Parts: sequence; C-alpha cells; structure tokens
Amino acid sequence: MKNEQGMAIVDRDEDGVDRAFRKDVLNGLRQRQKAIPARWLYDDAGSQLFEDITEVEEYYPTRAETEILKARGEEFAELIGEGRAVVEFGSGSSVKTPLLLSAIEPAAYIPLDIAGDFLRASAAALGEKFPGLPIHPVEADFMRETPLPDAVKTMPKLGFFPGSTIGNMVPRTAVDLLRSMRATLRADEGTAPLLLIGMDLVKDRDVLEAAYDDAKGVTAEFNLNLARRINRELDGDIPVDALRHEARWNNKFARVEMHLEAARAIDFSICGERFSMAKGETIHTENSHKFTRRSSATLLLAGGWTPVKRWRDSEKRFSLILAEATEQREAP
Ligand SMILES: C[S@@+](CC[C@H](N)C(=O)[O-])C[C@H]1O[C@@H](n2cnc3c(N)ncnc32)[C@H](O)[C@@H]1O
Repeated sequence: MKNEQGMAIVDRDEDGVDRAFRKDVLNGLRQRQKAIPARWLYDDAGSQLFEDITEVEEYYPTRAETEILKARGEEFAELIGEGRAVVEFGSGSSVKTPLLLSAIEPAAYIPLDIAGDFLRASAAALGEKFPGLPIHPVEADFMRETPLPDAVKTMPKLGFFPGSTIGNMVPRTAVDLLRSMRATLRADEGTAPLLLIGMDLVKDRDVLEAAYDDAKGVTAEFNLNLARRINRELDGDIPVDALRHEARWNNKFARVEMHLEAARAIDFSICGERFSMAKGETIHTENSHKFTRRSSATLLLAGGWTPVKRWRDSEKRFSLILAEATEQREAP
C-alpha cells in the first residue's frame, strides 16, 4: 500500500491488523527454534524503551558513537561536504542526528523508520532545532528500496545508519540491506552516494552480555514488550509472566542473541492458532552482531560500499565508518 507521495506505508487488514506483523509472528512461532524478526520490537512502547536502554549504565554503544560524532565534525565536513540530502535509516528518536547535521550543512533530511508515529514526532522535534532545513519523514521498511520524495530525488545523498542497527541482521540480510540502501540513495544526477554507518566491535563477552541484560531490567522490558504487543495487536494470550529475558553471546556467529525463555511449560493462542512452549524453550527475538575491522569491511564491500574512513571511540568499543558506493564495473 502507498501514500499520496507513493511511499510505502503499513498494510493493514479490515480489522486494522498489520499483515506483515501477523505473518512474521505466526510463521516464526511455527518453526522448531521459534524466532520473530527484531524489527517488531519497535512499536511506540518498544521505541521508547529502546531510548531508555541507551541511557542505562551497561549499554555503551550510544555513548561511544556519540563521542565519535561529537569529536569528528570537522572531518565529516571535509569528507562529506555541503548540500547532500541526509537519509537516516531506522532514525528512531533522531537524537544523534543534530551532531551530524550541524557539521555538514545538508540540503534536506529524510528520516526513515518503520515506527511511524514515533518517527513523525521525532521529525517534528528535530524541525524545531533546524528551522530552515527541509525535513521529509518516510514511514517505510528499509529492507526494501524506497522511493524518496520528489523534492530530494536529484540531490546527492548521504545515508546515515547509526546505532549498529546493521548488526541486527544476519550477514546475508545485511548485504541485501546495504544493496537496497544503495539503490534508495541513487541520485538521478550521478554523484556517488555516501554512507556513514555505525558498527559495534567484538569485545569481552561479559561486557557484551551485560549491555543487553542491564541490572535495572530495561532491556528485559524491551524484549517482553514484544509478547505484550503480540497479545495486544494479534489477539494473543501469551502468559507474559511465564517468560524470562535472556541475552547470550554466540561466539560462532559473533553476536549477542536475545531470547524469551519459558520458565514453565505454556500454551497460548495467537489469531486463533494454538502454540506451546516446553519449559526452557525460547523465542529468539534479536541478534546484535559485532564486528572486527576486517569483517566490517568485508560486509560493506559485499553490499556495494567501499570504506573510505573509519573512526573509533577513545575506548575502542565502537566504530563509525564512512563508505562510498563502489563504482560498478563489468570485469575483472
Ligand atoms: C537500534 S534502533 C536505532 C535508533 C537510532 N538510529 C539510534 O542510533 O539510536 C533501530 C531503529 O530502526 C528501526 N527499524 C528497525 N527495523 C526497521 C525496518 N525494517 N525498517 C525501518 N526501520 C526499522 C526501529 O524502529 C528503530 O527506530
């Protein structure tokens, strides 16, 4: 379904149910290892809880990335230049965005997110800080090539993808996403698009697991909110009090996984379909892949982006990488 600008918006059935959400949940819970794509963690409540996570002591990525954004403004200005349309993928609260926008004098800002109400509220708040800047929020799934508003079509683009959101995808999907970003950012007039992307780094297992299982239980609430959302939006009766949040480092895939674990055997129904979980069985709800210098470069190159410059915070926990769309050539 499209809005009047031809932009993708949420596809709902006659009862107002988001069809893609229902399909992902039902298919995901029918698998042997139950799994639901992480994007569904972000309804309004989930988006707000994610903002709360960024402030807990153990969650270092936001502080580390903000430190880089604050310190490197002059280099951004030099390498990126003025007059680009900045397209932020998964913009959320857009809290880090002002640091970038004030450094580079962009021509327009296009925040793109799947959580529409949160997106529009954040875009309005940002507009007050940058009164002269054209802002065009786009509610869309960034996994698909997205048509941008006509007003910015011909402008050279900078994609901004902070927060290591790329780490939420398995490598194959991350490559698809990088390619579709490249297509979304293509300008009619041919200036190569740039991408400024945050990628969290591999580090001590204890630090990583604590970052996704804070002592105050905010991340646990974020994870459990998914079960509450399913109950609310998909006519479910999951006994949420029987589920436990779990964060575990998976060394084989270099990622922290979030799961919802059944503390006892449970049965429930969603949209009329029955499901059961044995005690100890889990629903896998999120991956946060962590990168090395080499793995981040390999992923970007596979997605059609050539790394140009890489910065790390003072404690070397997080990287921000500027990449340029790789010129397409026939061979070799
Ligand atoms: C980890 S948060 C990052 C938020 C913010 N960019 C930051 O750096 O703090 C991920 C954001 O991506 C959005 N998101 C997740 N999956 C998405 C998808 N498939 N399409 C569009 N936005 C998505 C979420 O709604 C959320 O705002």
